[in-house]
Amino acid sequence: MEPNIEGILVNLLTKSLILFVFAVLAACSASEAPKAQEGIALEVFKSPTCGCCGKWVTHLEESGFNTTVRNQNSLDSIKKKLGVPANMQSCHTGVSADGYFFEGHIPAKFVTAFLANPPENAAGLTVPGMPTGSPGMEMGDRFKPYSVILVKKDGTTEVYAEVASLEEQHQ
Ligand code: CU
Ligand code: CU
Repeated sequence: MEPNIEGILVNLLTKSLILFVFAVLAACSASEAPKAQEGIALEVFKSPTCGCCGKWVTHLEESGFNTTVRNQNSLDSIKKKLGVPANMQSCHTGVSADGYFFEGHIPAKFVTAFLANPPENAAGLTVPGMPTGSPGMEMGDRFKPYSVILVKKDGTTEVYAEVASLEEQHQ
């Protein structure tokens, strides 16, 4: 029987196509792997002397975030620009790559949940003041329950999450 040249060619083409697809898949997953390890990027505006702010940044980093700290003496203009209500402010202000603000000592897990599924018309989240026991405000096992507040672009607010214990703040 004559060797079927056409059949052999088709077979070779199919095999090289399969190899090509695998090579592309391998290249894609190789380039995506380091990205996943970089974590969520957050720019954090704080005063250069704020200790609890630095501790919140450490909390984010330990939770896999990729933070960039911007030290500046006045934070009024950045809070105003981002729409943090005057009566809902805290010490530092975080900003995500897509412009949402994260004001105060918000547990990292709520920042992650928010960014995974941002509520409609949201401007950001805030934990007003500096509740005892919130991330960066640790004082032994002391804890004051607090709410994470969602701020909408029109300035209205609603409760995003209630935090009733130290344990609830962790992933
Ligand atoms: Cu603080
Ligand atoms: Cu702070």
